[in-house]
Amino acid sequence: MLCPFIVLSGLAMSPQLDAAWPWLLGILGERQSARTIHFVCACALASFVMVHLLMVLASGVWNNLRSMITGWYDIGETNG
Ligand code: HEM
Repeated sequence: MLCPFIVLSGLAMSPQLDAAWPWLLGILGERQSARTIHFVCACALASFVMVHLLMVLASGVWNNLRSMITGWYDIGETNG
């Protein structure tokens, strides 16, 4: 959901695109609001990546990687 907003606000801030399509900046308010939207979306995306990296670490990097490659996930049970 954040990606369309960050792309649109980024394109709206580009001076050349702003000159060609002034309505793009118009729908976001003005340059400063586009900048705020861009920055808030960038922070949210960075937090999303950090949280997901932490979740991968917490759930076990090697077990996750092994299950992605082989299909086998070690749930820690033994047969005897
Ligand atoms: C098509 C995609 C993108 C375009 C066209 C774009 C374009 C721009 C432009 C033109 C600026 C300068 C704004 C200014 O003059 O103050 C800017 C700033 C910035 N962009 Fe992007 N951007 C894109 C994607 C991203 C992404 C994916 C991130 C990070 C997740 C990002 C993070 C930032 C940040 C942190 C700034 C500085 C913000 C500020 O000075 O207030 N951008 N971008």
